[in-house]
Amino acid sequence: MASTEVRGLGHSVERKEDARFIRGKGNYFDDIVLPGMLHMELLRSPYAHARIKSIDTSAAAALPGVVAVVTGELMAQHNLAWMPTLSGDTQAVLATDKVRFQGQEVAAVVAESPYIAKDALELIEVDYDPLPPVTGPQQALAAGAPLIRDEKEGQTDNHVYHWEAGDKEATDKAFAEADKVVELDTFYPRCHPSPLECCGCVADVNPATGKATIYMTSQAPHAHRTLFALVAGLPEEKIRIISPDIGGGFGNKVPIYPGYVVATAASLLIGRPVKWVEDRTGNLISTGFARDYHMHGELAVKDGKFTGLRVKMLSDQGAFYADAQPTKFRAGLFHIVTGSYDIPAAFVETDGAYTNKAPGGVAYRCSFRVTEASYLIERLVQTAAYELGVDPAELRKANFIKPDQFPYESATGFVYDSGDYDAAMDLCLEKLGYAELRAEQAAAREEGRLLGIGLASFTEVVGAGPRHTYDIAGLKMFDSAELRVHPTGKAILKLGVRSQGQGHETTFAQIVAEELGIPYEDVEVQEGDTDNTPYGLGTYASRSTPVAGAATAVISRQLRAKAQKLAAHLLECSEDDLEWKAPRFTVKGAPDRGVSIQDCAFAAYTNLPDGMEAGLEGVHYYDPPNMTFPFGTYAVLVEIDRGTGQWKPLRVVAVDDCGVRINPMIVEGQIHGGLTEGFAIAAMELITFDEDGNCIGSNFMDYLIPTAWETPSFELGETVTPSPHHPIGAKGVGESATVGSPAAYVNAIVDALAHAGVRNLEMPVTPDKVWAALSEVGLAQ
Ligand code: CDP
Repeated sequence: MASTEVRGLGHSVERKEDARFIRGKGNYFDDIVLPGMLHMELLRSPYAHARIKSIDTSAAAALPGVVAVVTGELMAQHNLAWMPTLSGDTQAVLATDKVRFQGQEVAAVVAESPYIAKDALELIEVDYDPLPPVTGPQQALAAGAPLIRDEKEGQTDNHVYHWEAGDKEATDKAFAEADKVVELDTFYPRCHPSPLECCGCVADVNPATGKATIYMTSQAPHAHRTLFALVAGLPEEKIRIISPDIGGGFGNKVPIYPGYVVATAASLLIGRPVKWVEDRTGNLISTGFARDYHMHGELAVKDGKFTGLRVKMLSDQGAFYADAQPTKFRAGLFHIVTGSYDIPAAFVETDGAYTNKAPGGVAYRCSFRVTEASYLIERLVQTAAYELGVDPAELRKANFIKPDQFPYESATGFVYDSGDYDAAMDLCLEKLGYAELRAEQAAAREEGRLLGIGLASFTEVVGAGPRHTYDIAGLKMFDSAELRVHPTGKAILKLGVRSQGQGHETTFAQIVAEELGIPYEDVEVQEGDTDNTPYGLGTYASRSTPVAGAATAVISRQLRAKAQKLAAHLLECSEDDLEWKAPRFTVKGAPDRGVSIQDCAFAAYTNLPDGMEAGLEGVHYYDPPNMTFPFGTYAVLVEIDRGTGQWKPLRVVAVDDCGVRINPMIVEGQIHGGLTEGFAIAAMELITFDEDGNCIGSNFMDYLIPTAWETPSFELGETVTPSPHHPIGAKGVGESATVGSPAAYVNAIVDALAHAGVRNLEMPVTPDKVWAALSEVGLAQ
């Protein structure tokens, strides 16, 4: 570890960005006000499924202050009524033929103020002819279901895809030879990332220069620029996407939404900047939903060992297939569906269906839908423990992949980089006092109290990805870092990723501090402006540290190698005679003779050896050899109120292993956030629909997110198993707790009722569901 002087890896230094955030001096897109700026509002469909007979915009256009009313017809004249999705499907920008979900974008008003634009929406007359809605994937795939994507050539039903992984024959054999088969049917409900800041943009197309500057809530500004260029036919050098400060993303700000496209088209046509600010209802009903997976899992067990896994998934994709998945692995759940267990055979099938719901399928704080996979295997293993009459911790330990098996190739063909699952579980059980708690649970039951202990030993996969295998819309998933050291020894680091609150301005400066010896305070980190940062695929799926973090370490090392030559020149010795201990090079055996990295930086501009290129800067594009596989064990203790069905987490213990931690405080903050979101999904977050396809969950009165009041406190622990292929041994961590924890909460609730035969409760586990279960097994009071 670098000296405390420079604050490299392992130091819980304060977050640099907080200096502006806590003073209210952040710069979000809605803070941007440009001269002559107009405001855009979107008209959304009240129906889930209806044919559009006509749209009359005359009254809206006549309202004073309205500058333009945009319809799908107008967009179609510019070939922009439809756009491609990240999964290679198409999505309506503004509806022309039909509306296919409630909340779909139908028209837009551009006006001098947002209030005028909103008033004008009410003057647009749309004549709809309602069609029967499809509100679930089973209904969608049933014979005679209404065809949702009737505009797609060759599409004769609502089926989107079928994907498989694993070895069917070997899995069938494992099941035939098993002495126990355990099954679980469960549903991971539709929920929403709900960042504090909704989506939006300010599009500014300059009629004189033709340059389009778009300030937008983008987790992937470079990729978005390329997609804008390809779709709109604008020259890429004339597009500048700026992601200013972003108020949370969690996957919601990965796709391109119609609002961005219409605002940009409107600015291009009108010649003035156009701002679009999505409201909360617009965000919840039309932008990237998450999950919505119906899952069936079967586990074959022989002599207490898991020998086979069979999984069938059915996914509700909404009206347009818009998942953010790598082209090669559309069903990202394959990556870790076998979890932390050494299961020799697996076969997984997944199907997707169109329904009359919003598109999305974003990985809400998750990589490629692995959250669903993690939930299924951890719930299935707990069910197996009850069916076999074995303690759930013991069963896990008997089946964990062992440290000497890494790198470990799973039955679905993915190679886990490193792990020590027993160590994480042992620490978690020790912190929890597992044995004592089991005794307490039994004693409480005697008194008529219901305590439950839930475990989840998750394995995650983050850091997409090796470019030979991973891409989004064809763009390979490398990432980049450009480092410029100025003559006075201060530096600017420019990255292709984009923080949405994760603390990159601090942690990436710490990597430079560690590798190049420049104090972290002296390294300014810049992200989010496509004109001024190197190309990258953006921040989601916890890929920043595994990919851009690695790029930062590599470029720092390259500059250090040049600095060593400069040091040799200054000290008039051979570079082989020098040793490095951040922040100085010293002559071996003569520690008083040395120069600092700042001396070397000054020399790079003032005193160069003959033949050396001036300056101390460079850029590195990093192609990771593999993903990283963080892991951990979470334990939750709950008590159920037999009178009301309410459940309360009494303790939450979380042991995470994300390899080497750059900033332990920031890592713990990430885990706190993830555990809170996991609790929210387990307890309350739900977007559902009535039989007409009306979205229930379109505001924060219906879509519940927890406050500090309901959120439990967390006890954290860590083990450190470095990633063998990452230059600083780090794995990503941002999403681990959201992926791992929902199963721990649900396992705890089910555990409180398992002695009475309860095996499953569906998320969100609301008190009425618990009450129904209590009543059914005669435990209600
Ligand atoms: O891609 P994203 O930033 O969302 O996720 P991440 O790479 O897991 O990082 C989240 C935050 O935790 C960043 O500030 C990381 O640099 C920090 N982190 C860390 O300090 N040590 C790790 N081993 C992993 C992440």
